[in-house]
Amino acid sequence: MTLRIAVLASGRGTNLRAILQATADGTLDAEVVGVFSDKPGAPALRYAPEDRRWGYRPSHFGDKTRYEAALADAIDATRPDWVVCAGYMRILGDAFIERFRGRMLNIHPSLLPKYPGLYTHARAVAAHDAEHGASIHFVTPELDAGAVIAQVRIPILPRESPDKLAERLLPREHALMLAVLRLACDGALAEQGDIALYNGQPLLNPLSLDSTDRLVP
Ligand code: GAR
Repeated sequence: MTLRIAVLASGRGTNLRAILQATADGTLDAEVVGVFSDKPGAPALRYAPEDRRWGYRPSHFGDKTRYEAALADAIDATRPDWVVCAGYMRILGDAFIERFRGRMLNIHPSLLPKYPGLYTHARAVAAHDAEHGASIHFVTPELDAGAVIAQVRIPILPRESPDKLAERLLPREHALMLAVLRLACDGALAEQGDIALYNGQPLLNPLSLDSTDRLVP
């Protein structure tokens, strides 16, 4: 069954573009049924056909509660199986999360639980970490704290700048996103309480994306 995916994005949309490319070339059995943004001018929106774009600032609706209710209604109208936050840079409220709990994923550019929040690349460099990476996790009310499904790791090179590190990580993020969405297509992912289930079993440690883009325990 072709998976229906709604994507939330605030910025340039390269993760969204990777998802769309994979659906177009048949390597991901999914359809992007809508792209939703808190920024009407977000480049990400341009990747979606006009009738599948929704981009409004919270101020358009008066306050965050009304904005998120309208956003959730618009997402629901597309009947998504999964909601994917791909560079959505706003903290989501509890009521919104509750509506999509268990079928909402976020990609975060750090090896969670390290560095939730912003400036993750700079924080990893400043801490002289040997490696950095990205995580895909279920979205829960606490920021970047939901059960982590999978991660990708890269070494931090000597004297590497945060920008360069972010640039090297990005294509690995895309591969991680696609690998996790393929698991979702296979019906292999679920959330039970605060735990991720993989093929019905609790995932005690996140899966790891290897150099051949396979997810391994
Ligand atoms: C990605 O690096 C993603 O990991 C990050 O935003 C970028 C979006 O890039 N997400 C977060 O920082 C969420 N806290 P994109 O718009 O090119 O996909």
